[in-house]
Amino acid sequence: MKQFKRTLVTAALPYANGPVHIGHLAGVYIPADIYARYLRLRGKEVIFVGGSDEHGVPITLKARKEGVTPRDIVNRYHEMIKKSLADLGISFDIYSRTSSETHRETSSAFFKKLHDEGKFVQRSTMQFYDEQAGQFLADRYITGTCPRCGNPRAYGDQCEACGTSLNATDLINPVSAITGNAPGLKETTHWYLPLDEYEPWLRQWILEEHTEWRPTVYGQCKSWLDTGLQARAVTRDLEWGVPVPVEGAEGKVLYVWFDAPIGYISATKELTPAWETYWKDPSTRLVHFIGKDNIVFHCIIFPAMLKAEGSYILPDNVPANEFLNLEGEKISTTRDWAVWLHEYLVDFKDKQDVLRYVLAATAPETKDNDFTWKDFQARNNNELVAAYGNFVNRALVLTRKYFDNRVPARGELAPRDTELLDAIPRLAGQVGKSIEGFHFREAVGIAMNLARLGNKYLQDTEPWKIFATDPARVATVLNVCLQVTANLATLMEPFMPFSSDRLRGFMNITPVPWNSMGDNVVDPGHLLGASGLLFEKIEDDAIRAQVDRLEDKKRRNAAGQPATAPEAAEPKPLVPYPHFAALDIRVGTIIAAEKVAKTDKLLKLTVDLGTETRVIVSGIAAHYTPAEIVGRRVSVLLNLEPRTLKGIESRGMILTAEGADGTLALVAPERPLPPGAVVC
Ligand code: MF3
Ligand code: ZN
Repeated sequence: MKQFKRTLVTAALPYANGPVHIGHLAGVYIPADIYARYLRLRGKEVIFVGGSDEHGVPITLKARKEGVTPRDIVNRYHEMIKKSLADLGISFDIYSRTSSETHRETSSAFFKKLHDEGKFVQRSTMQFYDEQAGQFLADRYITGTCPRCGNPRAYGDQCEACGTSLNATDLINPVSAITGNAPGLKETTHWYLPLDEYEPWLRQWILEEHTEWRPTVYGQCKSWLDTGLQARAVTRDLEWGVPVPVEGAEGKVLYVWFDAPIGYISATKELTPAWETYWKDPSTRLVHFIGKDNIVFHCIIFPAMLKAEGSYILPDNVPANEFLNLEGEKISTTRDWAVWLHEYLVDFKDKQDVLRYVLAATAPETKDNDFTWKDFQARNNNELVAAYGNFVNRALVLTRKYFDNRVPARGELAPRDTELLDAIPRLAGQVGKSIEGFHFREAVGIAMNLARLGNKYLQDTEPWKIFATDPARVATVLNVCLQVTANLATLMEPFMPFSSDRLRGFMNITPVPWNSMGDNVVDPGHLLGASGLLFEKIEDDAIRAQVDRLEDKKRRNAAGQPATAPEAAEPKPLVPYPHFAALDIRVGTIIAAEKVAKTDKLLKLTVDLGTETRVIVSGIAAHYTPAEIVGRRVSVLLNLEPRTLKGIESRGMILTAEGADGTLALVAPERPLPPGAVVC
């Protein structure tokens, strides 16, 4: 085994186009955090970098859908994701973003170097183009049937059903995600990374030198390599992204999967001037935590980029996880079938460790796994409360009762005592080994065994029964128990840092370093602190509320109603009254309505405003049919600057309200006022 001096841990950069859910946590952030925390506890040199992936088509598509800029979208979700991950205790040394200036420079320079050294090939090809939208259709702007597995909703760059990375022109029956039209073809020029040239090297590096990678990861790489690699375009005709830094590339940006992994490097640069030690010294171990849909990018494409560049190290391991399902169904953002982290943190305040524990204990390491609320409750009540919490509580309460809250001195140790004390270094060793081998589920199970052994020990020794007759024996028993609780705070720390902190508070101790764990870590006479319960039972009500919420989503999905991730609208800054008074809003009646040709969204409305009639184009066609809207009373903003949409001049705006689930409603006076009535 190669000896490394330091470790660089990365966690896949989440797209800043939506909040983070339990699938992301179980797949990437919890395992990465356990690993980083463990190495720190061991006193190893380690940094843990992450950030938001802020380019790419999913972001521009979402912005287009909401009528805001991509920057608005990424600002909103970057802050939200950053905060929720921090609140869950994901201990990034830096959480950056790929829209940062450092990243623009770093990824540009990376591309430029490869370009200038002739590492790319430039090609002109015919690419899908949406005439109506006036835009090339890169990546997710185009969907179609996967040529490999037949999934009808594959994207232009990847099929999420089978994990294949695709070129848009491979798709069967392609359609534009903007207009729904079948696209035309138009010529364009791009830069390609000739992956085929790296194939022999990749085969050697992965298939020969990294046989220790997880079988799922190794297997996917092998199947990729056996299929044969092709040159991949690393630029796109898009507006949002890092501009291609060479002449003649106006209107082109770096492909998001080219710039995003470089984000790990940029983040490290922002974190420390010693970034090159982490990225260029071969005695650094680089470990990428990712989900299985990211395997090809982290095991093949990014390594090929790094190899082409020449001065960087390569990942030593890429412990990719399988997927976590929710109540037996695939997690889906579009169907809102997910447990969202920011919502969990509100509903289960101060229960970060419960989620961390459950997700570690059910991590989808070797196969897809299922999260259910019932299992969540059972693991909390039967494992955290009944095993870990109960043991700690009994040890602390008995010490308070019999020994004035001071650690009693122990007498001679009986075999039963030594047996438990010996388990401490043994289990600690096993936990460490499991974590180092990326077996986090196993690791947390072994750590929990120490609490179980503690419980069993109390059950066997029954100090509460013998205090009257043999206080000296009770002193020994409790001394042994308190050694175990102090060690548990360290052993559990990578998985459950919040309760470890609380436990140390209860015991009034400073952290016991990992390497100092053992049978004698708290001294006799040490005064313990005030304690409470380490974990609380989760009642049926709380679980029912979550299950009900999911049932609701299921009904809504079945009824075909739109479900988007619920998110509170951002509060807007205060405005002075005159700004509001300047708006001319009046009641109107819709007297005619028709669909605007060549769009799915727009209705052309004729509105009676009492003193005049106006034509207004409104984006409500998905929510109201022309027939049902005629005769409706509405509120109209009259003095909005006119706009021409699809050749129709629209003079004013119909006011609507939008629910978190995407339901759209006209805003109307609730009594039948005549057209022209002023809204103020
Ligand atoms: N945003 C990607 C995803 O969610 C992951 C990017 S990882 C990086 O699938 F390496 F490219 F940054
Ligand atoms: Zn497929």
